[in-house]
Amino acid sequence: VKKIAILTSGGDSQGMNAAVRAVVRSGLYHGLEVYGIQRGYHGLLNDDIFSMDLRSVGDIIQRGGTILQSARCKEFMTPEGQQKGAEILRKHGIDGLVVIGGDGSYQGANKLSKLGINTMALPGTIDNDIAFTDYTIGFDTAVSIVVDAVNKLRDTMSSHERSSIVEVMGRHCGDIALHAGLASGAETILVPEMPHDMDEITERMKQNFAHGKRHSIVLVAEGVGSGEEVAKALTDRCPTLEPRVTVLGHIQRGGTPTPADRNLASRLGDFAVRMLIAGESDKACGIIKGELVLTDIDKVVNTKKEFNRELYELASRLSQ
Ligand code: F6P
Repeated sequence: VKKIAILTSGGDSQGMNAAVRAVVRSGLYHGLEVYGIQRGYHGLLNDDIFSMDLRSVGDIIQRGGTILQSARCKEFMTPEGQQKGAEILRKHGIDGLVVIGGDGSYQGANKLSKLGINTMALPGTIDNDIAFTDYTIGFDTAVSIVVDAVNKLRDTMSSHERSSIVEVMGRHCGDIALHAGLASGAETILVPEMPHDMDEITERMKQNFAHGKRHSIVLVAEGVGSGEEVAKALTDRCPTLEPRVTVLGHIQRGGTPTPADRNLASRLGDFAVRMLIAGESDKACGIIKGELVLTDIDKVVNTKKEFNRELYELASRLSQ
């Protein structure tokens, strides 16, 4: 490859900028021309493509969001849209594309590779819902934000001996709730991957309050339902629990990325460029047990991320 482009697509995540920086600087280091595509696949179809140099990615490693902006693009899901995208890239002489995003973005990269563009996909989503990588870029920051919020909620809940229901993001994946729940000592973690029994949960909360607990934190992954629904189910069973609901929402997607996310993004961005140079295409870059790995995009998008049951059971054992 001689000319590569980079785009960010789908929901943004903290660390996408660090990944863009790594791709641009690594590409330039290896003597490639590097182009940025604004607003994901939408920008590609509008030919919103510009040349990037070392300075165009200065002062961004610490910023949330993405300087390339992001979009979810319906037109690119059609074969005509994909064909048009490949033609526009070819017109610019771009023969390699790095896509940073989630599942939908991976599928787009897969289609483009079938049309002759060499592609690499990087996991950029707070959800941690991508298979064949232990972590996605943005996940660690989102978990930190949830833990920080729970710390604050504990203070006020303890003063009033109340329970706090915290709804977190993650789409169909419970990882944000699981990891933030373990780190914040939540009493209950509700995730779509595991069944739960509201009667049992209510009973346990009642017992814990009776035995001197001063607060109760319930983390609800959005894939299970809303925090309001969980609060209603609890109140119906025991009105004295006085649950208060907090929906953290898009707060989880903003702010400065943690060092772990910046480093993951830097490693993956550089890896993607090196793999393109090595002649690889249609691959997803990930990290497993600290090692950088390549997996066929097809395989990644057709595999459900494995849920860490051990961590879930640990959180449950420690939350008495
Ligand atoms: O995929 C990231 C994510 O933040 C999910 O956790 C959430 O369900 C969704 O995106 C929200 O989408 P939007 O930003 O379009 O409201």
